[in-house]
Amino acid sequence: MRTAAIVRTGITRRELMLASAGLLSLGSSLTRAANTPAPAPPPGAAAGPAGPFSLPPLPYADNALDPVISASTLGFHHDKHHKAYVDNLNKAVAGTPLADQPLEKIILTTYGAADKAGIYNNAGQHWNHSFYWKSLRPQGGGEPPAALLHKINESFGSVDALHKEWLAAATSQFGSGWAWLVLDGDKLAVTKTGNADSPLTRGQKPLLTIDVWEHAYYLDYQNRRADYVNAVFDKAINWGFAAENLMV
Ligand SMILES: [Fe+2]
Repeated sequence: MRTAAIVRTGITRRELMLASAGLLSLGSSLTRAANTPAPAPPPGAAAGPAGPFSLPPLPYADNALDPVISASTLGFHHDKHHKAYVDNLNKAVAGTPLADQPLEKIILTTYGAADKAGIYNNAGQHWNHSFYWKSLRPQGGGEPPAALLHKINESFGSVDALHKEWLAAATSQFGSGWAWLVLDGDKLAVTKTGNADSPLTRGQKPLLTIDVWEHAYYLDYQNRRADYVNAVFDKAINWGFAAENLMV
């Protein structure tokens, strides 16, 4: 039982509340027990330093989202940028009590701690990127599944209205960061976060995200962030993933 397992890790009451709401289970595939062998790195990827965290493979081929996101962008983004966050995190937690902790607990317990900023940033970026790959799919977009569509209409009025809020959040995030569709209480909302931050530290449940760091789109769209955001929303967003997260 999930809650019992979390209690054994000794996490805080706030985290237990998030877990009870299903939030921590969103990243369950990002964590593993210390005695579980790490999966093999993706083909062509150089092995990183040994540690508790590993780079998850992309859930589709690196050219599967072309032309919305090119194979070149996905390859660099996943194999270089995301891998660097994982490698840096493994180095940073090596030999510390955090090495045995779930990723979500590391994020929540290092948030706001100046002397743990390096760990927080790399842990956050590992979580955010793992969630981002799942927020996309080949031939995505279109109409959300019925239960999610009902919730979108209830919260925003329409998918088009959600699209407008999503675009506004993604394009108004100054510098690097993320835009999110979240469940906040019993309503859906769009929000944005800077750098490695995520809604996890705000008690919101993430349903979808889009990476608006320049490395996510610059090879394909240069400075046209809005074109990237719109193309992803129309042709690559994974409504099924959002619907699954909503039900957890
Ligand atoms: Fe990124």
